[in-house]
Amino acid sequence: MFKRRIRSLIGLDVGTKAVKAVELTWNGGLVLTGFGYAELPSPDAVRETVARVFEENEFHTRRVVTSVSGKSVIVRYLTMFKMSPDDLRNAIRYEADKYIPFDVDEVLLDCQPFEAPGMNEAGPNEMRVLLVACKRALVDEQLRILAGVGLQPEIVDVDVFAVGNAYETAVTGMDGDRVRALVDVGAGKTSVNVIRGGASLFTREIHSGGDAFTAAIANRLGLKDGEAEALKRRPGEQADRVRGAVTPAVDDLSTEVRLSFEYFENQFDRGVDEVLVSGGGARLVGLTDDLARVLDRPVAPWDPTGDLPIAADRVDVDALREHAGELAVAVGLASRLRRDA
Ligand SMILES: Nc1ncnc2c1ncn2[C@@H]1O[C@H](COP(=O)(O)OP(=O)(O)OP(=O)(O)O)[C@@H](O)[C@H]1O
Ligand SMILES: [Mg+2]
Repeated sequence: MFKRRIRSLIGLDVGTKAVKAVELTWNGGLVLTGFGYAELPSPDAVRETVARVFEENEFHTRRVVTSVSGKSVIVRYLTMFKMSPDDLRNAIRYEADKYIPFDVDEVLLDCQPFEAPGMNEAGPNEMRVLLVACKRALVDEQLRILAGVGLQPEIVDVDVFAVGNAYETAVTGMDGDRVRALVDVGAGKTSVNVIRGGASLFTREIHSGGDAFTAAIANRLGLKDGEAEALKRRPGEQADRVRGAVTPAVDDLSTEVRLSFEYFENQFDRGVDEVLVSGGGARLVGLTDDLARVLDRPVAPWDPTGDLPIAADRVDVDALREHAGELAVAVGLASRLRRDA
C-alpha cells in the first residue's frame, strides 16, 4: 500500500551508432513524455553523447532502463526437469556452463520459465527455460557510464527482448493469432523476435546490419566510408547504383533471417506470417522489397511509437517522427514501467 509508484521511466538505448532515449509516464495509460536522439561521433564518445541527450531534452526522471546486446550476451532456450523457481536459480549455474562460451564467474545469469501455450510444449515432467548470460564487464561498464552522468539505472535488459516489448506496448488491436517476426536492423547487428499475441516465442541476434551496407557501398563504388554513408542515406538519383552495390550484403543478411525463420518453423511447427522491420538500418533504399523477395512473405515497416499518445508540449514531435522507426529498443525498455507501475 505504501509502495512508491514509479510514474516515469526512461528507456535508454545506447546503440553502436546512436543514443536514443524515450520517457514514458503513467497517467491512467502510458504517455510519451520525453525524447532525445544523438548520433555517436565515435565509439568512445558514449558518455558525452548520453550526457548531451539529457542536457538538450526535457525529462522528468533520472530513472533509466538500459540494455545490452552483441556477442557478450548469450540467450538460450533450454528444456529442464520441472522444479521450483528457487531450485532453478541454483541449478542454472551448473547448467549454464554447458551453453555459454565464457567462464560462469565472468557472467551475470538470469533465467525464467518460458511458456508458449499450445506451441512446442515441454514434456509432462519438463519445463522450458529462457537463459540469459551476459559478461559482467559489459554491464559494469554500462552502469559506470550512466552513474557518471547522474542517471539511475533500474533494469538492464537485452535489445532483442525490448523490441518485442515495444510492439506489445505501442501497437493496439493486433490480431493475436498471427505470427509476426520483428526484425530490427541496427548498425552492427539485427535483432529478430518472433511473437504471437504479445508473447515472444523465439529470438535471435544476427551480427550484421547497416554498417555492412555502408561497407559494401564503399567497396563496390570505391568511396570513403563517410561518402558511402552519406550516399546510402540520400541516394537520390543514384538509388539503383546504391541498390546494386548493397545487394550482396542485403542478401547475406536476408539469408540469415530466413535461416532463423526456418529454425523457428521447425521448432514450433508454425510459419512466420508477416515481417515487421524497424531500426536505422531498415531505412536503406529497397530493403523492405529485398527482404520480401528472399523471405517470400509480406514485409512492412512499423512504428514503435505506434499508438502511444505524445505530450506534444514537451517533446520535439518532428524529431520524434523522423526517428520513430529507430526507437523500438528505447520504447521497449521504457515500457517496463507498465509492469512495474
Ligand atoms: N536514411 C538512412 N538510410 C539508410 N540507412 C540509414 C539511414 N539512417 C540511418 N541509417 C543507418 O542506420 C544505422 C543506425 O541505426 P540504429 O540507430 O538503429 O543502430 P544502432 O542502434 O546505433 O546500432 P546497433 O543496434 O547495431 O547497436 C546505421 O548503420 C546508419 O547508417
Ligand atoms: Mg540498436
